[in-house]
Amino acid sequence: MVWGPLTPALLEPALGDVAAGVRRHAVRLAETRAGTGNRLGELAARLADDPDPQVRLQLALTLGAWQDSAAGVALARLAVNSGSDPAIAAAVLSSVVNHAEVLIAAVTQANNEVREVFADPLLDMSLALDRRDLVMQFLRPTLAPADGHFTAGQFHAFTHFVDALARKKLSFIEYSETGDEKLRELARQAVAMVAQARRVAADATQVVNLRVAALGLLGRSGAGSATDISRLAVLLQPSVPGEVQRAAVQALGRAGDAATPGWLLADWPAHSPATRATVFNSLLGRESWALELLRRLERGQIASVDLEVAQRDRLLKHSSEKVRQLAGTVFAATINPDRQKAIASFQPALFLTGDVTRGRAVFAKTCATCHQLDGVGREVGPNLISVKAHPPEKLLTSILDPSREVEPRYLAYNCELTGGDELYGIIASETGNGLVFKLPDGTTRNILRSDIKSLRSTKLSLMPDGLEAALTHQDLADLLRYLRHQPGGE
Ligand code: HEC
Repeated sequence: MVWGPLTPALLEPALGDVAAGVRRHAVRLAETRAGTGNRLGELAARLADDPDPQVRLQLALTLGAWQDSAAGVALARLAVNSGSDPAIAAAVLSSVVNHAEVLIAAVTQANNEVREVFADPLLDMSLALDRRDLVMQFLRPTLAPADGHFTAGQFHAFTHFVDALARKKLSFIEYSETGDEKLRELARQAVAMVAQARRVAADATQVVNLRVAALGLLGRSGAGSATDISRLAVLLQPSVPGEVQRAAVQALGRAGDAATPGWLLADWPAHSPATRATVFNSLLGRESWALELLRRLERGQIASVDLEVAQRDRLLKHSSEKVRQLAGTVFAATINPDRQKAIASFQPALFLTGDVTRGRAVFAKTCATCHQLDGVGREVGPNLISVKAHPPEKLLTSILDPSREVEPRYLAYNCELTGGDELYGIIASETGNGLVFKLPDGTTRNILRSDIKSLRSTKLSLMPDGLEAALTHQDLADLLRYLRHQPGGE
């Protein structure tokens, strides 16, 4: 081999070398050497489908330096075929400025996964550069219904666009008024899309993901938005799929109406733990809403046990001084005096010496219907292995005042079915059309949402108060010893 300057003629075969490392370096060296007199650009562009991801990564970076349309086509190929690789996706986006049109054309026609990766950044870039032509290129396929029906992907894409505008404090109508007739025509199509979103969201015969996508467009300012609130509020019912309920909660939060907390909390006892968590997050977003939540806790319309420990903590540490203060008073006042008495009367148990074997027997008799330990019992409540490290005082409170702190998934619900059955248990899981109920005897029941007449939280742990009635101080000391005895315990 002769040493000499690195000419295109030397590099061209290297782009087709069998070794991936050679191809990758050749691409990098071609970056500044490609030109009209050689085939470097053309040969490199062929590597868009290279089996080696490092070669494709380098190509994605190199293509950004080239202006010609073949480079744009190769970059679009990389986006569509390799966009699920985050490193390649980031490289493609860093190379986009010279090739925006062809990339947007490819991405708007690609599958959802590819759209999800590229649509937002490309749209943000188009808005930032104030390129209305690119924005319209995005919007045209998004706002064109097939056979009069918009897809979930179209609803999502337009929602992203509206969100991006909202970050610039603009509505689509305002934005379209800055453009030409073609843009205003798109704005009219957008109005039709939102009208369809309203119908789809309310239509129980539509599939869940389409309804959820449609709900993304509700609760925003614009024509017809005044009636969105009541439309959304009726979706907060156990008969409506959980994901639809939660998308409605978010839309109500977005609508930002003064009446929003009232709607969100109106049927609180009927909300599942997952829906409650979404409601809670919405309410925490505004001081006046968080205060409304606390007032309802104060009046007892909501039980403090309905909030997770972490949620109470967020209120206690809220950025608003007023919220923090009210939270402090509300949560201090919620300790059940009857349970406090039981705990006081069992304090002597903390000073007795417990016995593991007797403790195991107490457990089997009183606790094993709901807890499993050492292979004994059923898993209705949590596995108690995790409590071995809890101090005895804390365990005593857990056992004698179970409803003081309850993870939401262990809150008990009453469920009345249209057939007349009454169930009492916890919601083990939620699906679009149904709930799985776990009963205190450890069995489960699948319930169709359409069979639910009413669903109400009891505000209580499924673990009952008053278990101490069957226990002596010595029994409790034995039980504590047994719970804390496991390997790694006391
Ligand atoms: C009817 C069912 C049921 C019975 C009976 C029951 N528990 Fe529970 N237990 C639960 C449920 C559900 C939870 C979770 C919710 C909560 O913390 O209250 C729980 C929680 C606990 C916790 C707190 C766990 C944690 O991770 O902090 C402890 C400790 C506990 N139980 C001990 C006992 C002991 C000891 C007995 C017997 C004296 C008992 N339980 C009887 C259902 C039951």
